[in-house]
Amino acid sequence: MAISRLLIEHFRNLSAVDLEFDPGFNFLVGNNGSGKTSLLEAIFYLGHGRSFKSAVTNRIISYDQPHFTLHGKIQDKQHQWSIGLQKLRQGSTLMKINGEDAKKISDLAHLLPMQIITPEGLTLLNGGPSYRRAFLDWGLFHHHQGFYRVWSNLNRLLKQRNAALQQINDYSQLLIWDIELVDLANQVTKWRKKYVETLKPEIEKMCQLFLPELEISVSFSQGWDRNTDYTTILQTNFERDRSVGYTFSGPQKADFKFKANGLPVEDVLSRGQLKLLMCALRLAQGEHLMQEKERHCIFLIDDFASELDQYKRALLAERLQQNGSQVFVTAITQEQLQEMRSKNNRTFSVKQGDIQVI
Ligand SMILES: Nc1ncnc2c1ncn2[C@@H]1O[C@H](COP(=O)(O)OP(=O)(O)OP(=O)(O)O)[C@@H](O)[C@H]1O
Ligand SMILES: [Mg+2]
Repeated sequence: MAISRLLIEHFRNLSAVDLEFDPGFNFLVGNNGSGKTSLLEAIFYLGHGRSFKSAVTNRIISYDQPHFTLHGKIQDKQHQWSIGLQKLRQGSTLMKINGEDAKKISDLAHLLPMQIITPEGLTLLNGGPSYRRAFLDWGLFHHHQGFYRVWSNLNRLLKQRNAALQQINDYSQLLIWDIELVDLANQVTKWRKKYVETLKPEIEKMCQLFLPELEISVSFSQGWDRNTDYTTILQTNFERDRSVGYTFSGPQKADFKFKANGLPVEDVLSRGQLKLLMCALRLAQGEHLMQEKERHCIFLIDDFASELDQYKRALLAERLQQNGSQVFVTAITQEQLQEMRSKNNRTFSVKQGDIQVI
């Protein structure tokens, strides 16, 4: 999967951009504030219907403009798609796939699996459990066709249950929700466990490559006591759930933790090591998808040169080349990209929102 062409209109400081990309490496070089991250953000937006930087769409639309528009041509070995997304300042969204209206963001997300390696992405390791659940659920979304529906139903049901908890005083009134909730929770948890099991060897292999000096271990917790079934948990927690006003235990509390030599990674690793671990996890997940589903991820790598030494940069580039992914890398100077150059690459100069091939 690769983006062959991208048109951008009124997205941050990118007022009108039309670019053809290499199916391999694409380097974006420019000064601070020139628009490098904005380009990655636009690509990410096209595949997720949201930004990795800002939750408020109106901050992304160029100042004084009524909307932004993104239009991409996507290619794999056999197929080509044309996808479009427009966001209006007053809130509405228009999406098209091959000229037809698309209803759901998940349709775009299925077409464009992406891995993002940015400084903000360190929350995967030092942020709350929701970031790690999102990491797992990204995998499940791309591996299981039915996952999105089950996951959406689970979240909807949890919201309804939490609202009901504030109004009722007898557990029997919740039973009707809990029968379905237990089914969905068990299904999501079964998928998550299986996914962790199959991903674990990939993660270990990649950590061995990027952080050979450390023994990295991973562990999954499902969000409730693993020796007790979820039905019993919901029943016995009822009074507590009622007093706090939400469902305390469940798949919405699952976590996927990492330790280095037996200690939490966020406490003992340097920033560079955390960045390397993040690279290892993202690569492991991307390669796993490729092996299982023969689908390539697009890698977005922002502000990357800082904090990684040249050997590690070369190592990452080598790995990405081997797996044949399309990659976008930003840097302030070309020298910072020296170790990442390969046969297939294109370099763009970014200057005050204007992007040109060098
Ligand atoms: N809604 C908007 N409309 C117009 N310009 C914006 C908007 N939001 C942000 N900007 C500006 O867009 C520019 C591009 O920012 P961006 O983060 O892409 O820069 P960058 O090249 O990644 O810089 P750095 O090297 O510092 O990370 C900045 O000058 C920023 O102030
Ligand atoms: Mg930037």
